[in-house]
Amino acid sequence: MAFVKVAALDEIGDGEVLAVQADGKRVCLARVGDEVYAFANNCSHREFPLSDGEVDPDDCSITCEWHGARFDIRTGEAIALPATRPIPVYDCRVDGEDILVDVN
Ligand code: FES
Repeated sequence: MAFVKVAALDEIGDGEVLAVQADGKRVCLARVGDEVYAFANNCSHREFPLSDGEVDPDDCSITCEWHGARFDIRTGEAIALPATRPIPVYDCRVDGEDILVDVN
């Protein structure tokens, strides 16, 4: 377990996404209310950056901008085609004004 600071909380507004790096991995953050979720910044369909996608706060999902696949950002589960494989999700926590992620 090695949490590293990847961003400040005020860099990401409610319902927004932010691309960051953590231990050399491309990570996408998504904020829904007070919660911040972290997951691989690669769609499992064709590797498009999910940070270009759109978050739906109602079901905590993100839609890939390229072909419209959707993923549950809490579990990584693929919930809409054309993606069939999940994406990795990472432990994420907010400590004061810092967003910390553990990708290991
Ligand atoms: S690359 Fe994401 S849906 Fe195709």
